Amino acid sequence: MHAIFQYQDFFINYLEKQSITKEPKNLYDPITYILGLGGKRMRPVLTLMATEVFNADYEKALPAAMAVEVFHNFSLVHDDIMDDAPLRRGEVTVHEKWDINTGILSGDAMLILAYQYFEQYEPVVFRDLAKLFSKTALEVCEGQQWDVDFETRTDVTIPEYLKMIEYKTAVLVAAAMKMGAIVAQTSEENAALVYEFGLNLGLAFQLQDDYLDAFGDPETFGKQVGGDIIENKKTYLYLKAISFSSNEDRDKLTTLFSTKPDDYSGKIEDAKQIFNISGASKATQDAIQEYTSMAFDTLEKMNIAADKKAILKSFGENLMNRKV
Ligand code: IPE
Ligand code: IPE
Ligand code: MG
Ligand code: MG
Ligand code: MG
Repeated sequence: MHAIFQYQDFFINYLEKQSITKEPKNLYDPITYILGLGGKRMRPVLTLMATEVFNADYEKALPAAMAVEVFHNFSLVHDDIMDDAPLRRGEVTVHEKWDINTGILSGDAMLILAYQYFEQYEPVVFRDLAKLFSKTALEVCEGQQWDVDFETRTDVTIPEYLKMIEYKTAVLVAAAMKMGAIVAQTSEENAALVYEFGLNLGLAFQLQDDYLDAFGDPETFGKQVGGDIIENKKTYLYLKAISFSSNEDRDKLTTLFSTKPDDYSGKIEDAKQIFNISGASKATQDAIQEYTSMAFDTLEKMNIAADKKAILKSFGENLMNRKV
């Protein structure tokens, strides 16, 4: 096994060797742009790590890791259109730098490019990777649709929210890890356990994403702070605040989340205040902790060496403490 930062380096070196840019420039330049903006590279790192957890060489997993990262970036380009987001990784979003049509088509091309990376695998591995990937990609679409549907609903429940984040975010984290298991051709049982680990880590990750969206530092966060509040997203923070608040604050929050005013600074401040005084912020932090420990429980069930468990655990701990 290697250290987490080494997997990051291995992946970035591989990414930089890919030549994506060609004609027409307006199709390929946005792809190079978004992939070059960086990001944590968490999913490809998980694919490489999982491969070595199951005793195969990380190099075998580089095309699969690339497929996952290209798919993730595709989903961000379309997500930023859907969420009307101006900023991504501290830079202007693709649809703002070019236009919406460019974001749609470059995003579509990225989805195809992602699949092409699987062509480098032998038939059995190819089939398993493509099958998992197709299932996962469709689930991400379902999760994204729920996320948008919830913006205009006032009766979203916590179980519905959890299902939504499982689909839009956690299944890809889980699949990134299971791809490592597939490349390493380990047992079904190992593949299922690593998927379960990734799923719980992914749930914790999206809860943290929601928390940082409201409470992140605008200097370092890289996305528009308060974007979810502006867009009336029914996040864990919002749903818990609704359930914990006095009638007065509940009405205030419901009213705040029923419109999208052009001047949103007051809306963001008011919502954050209610998130804090209601105890919703604390409940979100607790839930992040809870899903992370559930991931660690799964780790204990896995039949792998202690040093491997320790690396996966430290990855989970780093995620919980992240600021971006
Ligand atoms: C953002 O993912 C989208 C979510 C699922 C929350 P990341 O936070 O992993 O984004 P990057 O790739 O590091 O920028
Ligand atoms: C994004 O959720 C999930 C996907 C891109 C599939 P968010 O909309 O919360 O992600 P960010 O906060 O824009 O990165
Ligand atoms: Mg978004
Ligand atoms: Mg979104
Ligand atoms: Mg978010």
